[in-house]
Amino acid sequence: MRMRKKPNLIPRMERCGAYQIKDPAAWRGKWRSLLGGERALYLELGCGKGRFTCETAAAAPEALFVAVERVPDAMVIAMERAKAMGLENVRFLDADVADLRDYFAPDEVERIYINFCDPWPTNRHAKRRLTHPDFLERYRRVLRDGGEIHFKTDNRNLFEWSLFQFPKADFALEEVTRNLHAGGICGVMTDYEEKFHRQGVPINRCVGVKLHRDREPDLAPPLPGGTKGGWDASDLVQEPRRVPSSADDGRK
Ligand SMILES: C[S@@+](CC[C@H](N)C(=O)[O-])C[C@H]1O[C@@H](n2cnc3c(N)ncnc32)[C@H](O)[C@@H]1O
Repeated sequence: MRMRKKPNLIPRMERCGAYQIKDPAAWRGKWRSLLGGERALYLELGCGKGRFTCETAAAAPEALFVAVERVPDAMVIAMERAKAMGLENVRFLDADVADLRDYFAPDEVERIYINFCDPWPTNRHAKRRLTHPDFLERYRRVLRDGGEIHFKTDNRNLFEWSLFQFPKADFALEEVTRNLHAGGICGVMTDYEEKFHRQGVPINRCVGVKLHRDREPDLAPPLPGGTKGGWDASDLVQEPRRVPSSADDGRK
């Protein structure tokens, strides 16, 4: 997400500082004790300005929502939104998704939401897609068996590609749709989703359910230089290579 630098970022972060977890590693394995009780733990990866996290959390006060976002200028807007809504069951991490295992213990998480992640359309950037098998393997390490990844995107090529990646990491695919809102608005919309829906772009959605493995293989090493980066000129001119799919009806 390209954002203009927000003035007064630090004082604004401080004003809603109660919503930010600054030492997430200290909560590893103990997130449920944050609010007391046996709550379900849901994560949103790349929450942006936080509309989805806040509205979903408001509708499910019995669950704890932890939103991960590496751009503080976006995250501060999400935190201000949570504060304005008076939410008690939401927290924010200024962190990179690649480091999730440092913050959450095995089996600790019930559900992960990935909404409108950057598509990284060129092959050379494929490893940065949040649905790349290297990331899916990382999510496996914190999700319990039967835990779910709820994935939405406007980008048809990313969606078709991702449908091939979930099974590679032993996630069963469910609820696959290429036009989520065909029968009217379905579920809570994200900021990006509302914009694309208004433009008439169909929204793709699927759920990946974590299947049991007797033993998890070693993880691939982290990306050199981390996952940070943005679009460059070649991304904008090069068409992504499409993955052929029997389920592909030929529309973009
Ligand atoms: C295209 S925006 C979508 C925002 C929001 N989910 C929505 O649908 O409105 C993608 C967001 O993911 C964040 N992001 C991308 N890669 C990330 C990573 N590796 N770790 C944490 N956040 C990431 C970006 O900073 C950006 O805010």
